[in-house]
Amino acid sequence: MARYTADSRDRVRDAVDMVDLVSSRTELRRAGPNRLTGLCPFHEERTPSFGINPVEKVYHCFGCQASGDAFTFVMETEGVDFKGSLEVLADRYKVALELEQEDPRDAETRQRRERLLELLERTATFYVRQLWESAEARGAREYLAQRGLDEATLREFRVGYAPSAWDTVLNGSRREGFGNRELWDCGLAQKSERSGRIYDRFRSQIMFPLADGRGRVRGFAGRTMGDDLRPKYVNSPESDVFHKRRTLFGADLARSAAAKAGFVVAAEGYTDVIAMHQVGLRNCIGIMGTALTEEQIGELARLAPEVRLALDADSAGQEAMLRAARVAQRRTPPLRLRVVALPAGEDPADLVARTGGDEIQRLVNESVAFVRFSVMRALGTGELASAEGRDRVIDQLSAVLGPMGPSAEREELRRIAAGRLDMSPELLEQRLPRGRAQREQAASGAPPAAAGSPGKPPSGDSGSAALGRREPTERSFLALCVELPELGAKALAELDLDADLTSAFTRRAASHLREHLAAPSAGLADDDPLLAFMRELAVGDERSARATPATFEIERLQLTLARLDREIAAARAAESGDVSDLARRRSEARERLAGALAQAMDGDA
Ligand code: UTP
Ligand code: MN
Repeated sequence: MARYTADSRDRVRDAVDMVDLVSSRTELRRAGPNRLTGLCPFHEERTPSFGINPVEKVYHCFGCQASGDAFTFVMETEGVDFKGSLEVLADRYKVALELEQEDPRDAETRQRRERLLELLERTATFYVRQLWESAEARGAREYLAQRGLDEATLREFRVGYAPSAWDTVLNGSRREGFGNRELWDCGLAQKSERSGRIYDRFRSQIMFPLADGRGRVRGFAGRTMGDDLRPKYVNSPESDVFHKRRTLFGADLARSAAAKAGFVVAAEGYTDVIAMHQVGLRNCIGIMGTALTEEQIGELARLAPEVRLALDADSAGQEAMLRAARVAQRRTPPLRLRVVALPAGEDPADLVARTGGDEIQRLVNESVAFVRFSVMRALGTGELASAEGRDRVIDQLSAVLGPMGPSAEREELRRIAAGRLDMSPELLEQRLPRGRAQREQAASGAPPAAAGSPGKPPSGDSGSAALGRREPTERSFLALCVELPELGAKALAELDLDADLTSAFTRRAASHLREHLAAPSAGLADDDPLLAFMRELAVGDERSARATPATFEIERLQLTLARLDREIAAARAAESGDVSDLARRRSEARERLAGALAQAMDGDA
């Protein structure tokens, strides 16, 4: 695909009127010199937690964490990709776009890919016509109807039928000027081992087109019918255009509903997704089996900040959930995972066919946080009478509770689990591997060794308890620096990044703010992990907008105190002699803090 020039993109960005753009989706009210707020267009809410900064042209929601610029706003609200957003905005704000000059080799690759996509597109249309019009597809039509799937929904998903002959697609495509090589390259043909000739890969099958996020068909899944000996589903092979590991079935159709609902429902099968859409759960996608990949989780995160897994309660489904949880937790911001508790042995398509839409709708609404679900399941199905059984349960609990940062929820689950296992919560904590690492680090007070490489925010894997506790406070201090830039500039200059801040993320944020305090979201690459946080700071929330020099002083002193606490703990742990100087500085800081607090209260009165 030819690209637009970087200059075009800058001109579009300059031309956008952010207030005008966002006002088309939600009513905005001015809440400060560079701040307007309103109800979030990305999730349901009654009181506004969404805001924009019209000068930096960024938005942030403190409720659902949606954040971005004019381009992502259009991508999310109109369900288009980046290029599409550029076109929409260029059109709306009257900017002429220019295409980049293409390298002839790139142009050739692009044209070849476009041919393949066109062939896939035509074939999808062909299969759809076959399903609804050919006599041969009668069995398929009856089968789908008997599964309770409507024609309208099946058409929306472009479900089709591949005829039984060996060469229908082959001949049809050749007539339209496509070559054998192209049929082979996009996975529609396969080769006979004996004769070396090619023939149609999909025959006598119900065809589910596998489209990318923009709705372009890149491959197919064919479902065999009846008591065929072949596997139930056969997919297109991996190719230059089709990558199963990146594909989410129905992502293009679910995108805008997912953005609106604030969550996406993930099901295993094609029929599950179609059945859910049919009963109004239009934010549902399919993971196409249970081998959920990291790339798919990335795609899920692009659809919504929360995923509700409607997977089988069987062990494969459970394994997929655990894998999802591991990957989801490593993301920043972490992808929230919830579980839809399906009745044993039933998938969503079965459930819809048996009970209609209300039941699945209710289960989706009543989803349970993933950790709670897993802990309850381990305790509920585990064999608690024997020592080995309890050990196995503890292993399962470790997999879930181990990587979790400290929280009230974790505490509660740990207490429940300890009760069921008939052991003290402290003893259980010692058996949870990560918990041990956290405690050791907290006790030594040392900054975590693995707080992520510079430029990478700390991941769920690398956080220590100390870091987990401090990072929010450090972030809110940085927010105050933006709100009160004069004090902020001075404080940032005086900060010793390594000693005063505990995470690689806040250190990098502080160092970025030293240069960009007046426009925090400037000067960062599009995929920079700092970007979301900087947009949040650019928009600002109510609390920091009310900040006074007194509250600033309080937060700054708290930073100092936390640092002294760490230094004292580290010195004690290392038994490195005298801590009296540190202790003296700490009591000074405490006194100043008491003074600042008293002053702040006077100010309020
Ligand atoms: P299931 O075996 O649960 O099938 O596989 P299903 O979705 O209920 O199938 P229907 O409703 O009988 O048509 C779940 C998903 O796993 C993938 C498919 O994506 C399927 O939808 N799968 C399953 C395969 O890729 N190949 C197979 O042979 C089986
Ligand atoms: Mn099924």
